[in-house]
Formats: sequence, structure tokens, C-alpha cells
Amino acid sequence: MPDEDVDRPFTVELRKTGVSVEVAPGQTILAAVLPVVGHVDYYCLRGDCGTCVQTVLEGVPLHRDTVLSQRAREAGKRITICVSRSSTDTLVLDL
Ligand code: FES
Repeated sequence: MPDEDVDRPFTVELRKTGVSVEVAPGQTILAAVLPVVGHVDYYCLRGDCGTCVQTVLEGVPLHRDTVLSQRAREAGKRITICVSRSSTDTLVLDL
């Protein structure tokens, strides 16, 4: 696993939309996907509220939020896209 404190670039595949986007170091998944999908619900932008949570279809999330339970983190099927990143080179979301 990579150093969790270092932002690595990765690819997010939006399965429903049929598009892949690159997420640069320092960029959020939310910022990368918004121009592509047009609208995603979000609120706090700090990983506190859970409004932006999305379903992970493939890949391993690198959780940086405070809202998901430990059980949800370990399951790896949900991600707060305003702060969390990816431990794998590609993360596939149900978006
Ligand atoms: S917008 Fe609140 S957790 Fe992402």
C-alpha cells in the first residue's frame, strides 16, 4: 500500500457515465468528476456529512473522511468523494 499521507494520481472510471477521469495530486475526486457528470450531491467538503458518498464497484478506497464507520471502511464499497482517494491505480464508481 502507498503512503497514505501522499497524494498519488489515479483514474476514476464512472461506470454509468462511461467515462474515465484522472484525479491529480491535490485534486479531489469530486472536483474531477463534477464537470463530467454535471451534478453530484455534496455539502461539507470535509468528509464530515456523508452527502457525497458514492458506491465503489472496483478498486480500493483510501478513506480520509470522518463519517464512514470502521465496518464501512473495511468493506470498501462506499467512498466520500470530497476528501477520500484511491489506493489502487483505478477506482470504479457507480456514477
Ligand atoms: S460533502 Fe460532506 S462528506 Fe463529502
